[in-house]
Amino acid sequence: MQEKKVIESEIEKGYFAIGGEFSSRLKKILRRLGVDSQKIRYLAIIAYELEMNLIIHSDGGRISAHISSNVIQIISKDSGPGIKDIKKAFQPGYSTAPAEIKEMGFGAGLGLNNVEKFADNLNIKSEAGKYTILKAAVNLSTQS
Ligand SMILES: Nc1ncnc2c1ncn2[C@@H]1O[C@H](COP(=O)(O)OP(=O)(O)OP(=O)(O)O)[C@@H](O)[C@H]1O
Ligand SMILES: [Mg+2]
Repeated sequence: MQEKKVIESEIEKGYFAIGGEFSSRLKKILRRLGVDSQKIRYLAIIAYELEMNLIIHSDGGRISAHISSNVIQIISKDSGPGIKDIKKAFQPGYSTAPAEIKEMGFGAGLGLNNVEKFADNLNIKSEAGKYTILKAAVNLSTQS
């Protein structure tokens, strides 16, 4: 793999029908590229949590995967509403998902913890009322 490969998806707010599509597509592509299956599992979990967060919590955004031979980075960008208290958002069990979303089985407040657990590198920037950008990288050269 010399060139960097990028796959990208636009995610609309509240559009649950496409939830999981990006992570499935990523999984298939990574399998075809021969990426280690444990790493694929980590990346699929990260992508799934971030795409669901875009659907549930954001006003809409984009998720992308940047694939190179030694690292894969998942980037989620949205155009609001931003995260006021990032530390709080990472507390296990903390969720602002409304009751009807919780009834659908989401909103355990564990998604970002999962991302943190499976990423080798995590970077989050957010401005309340404006945007959130999350970058999670998984190294392919190190052991799972
Ligand atoms: N893209 C985002 N924009 C705005 N707020 C977000 C975004 N992603 C996460 N959050 C905030 O961070 C909180 C914690 O997110 P996390 O993914 O850990 O839990 P959850 O989505 O509420 O529940 P779960 O992921 O377990 O279904 C969310 O409840 C929400 O308040
Ligand atoms: Mg979540």
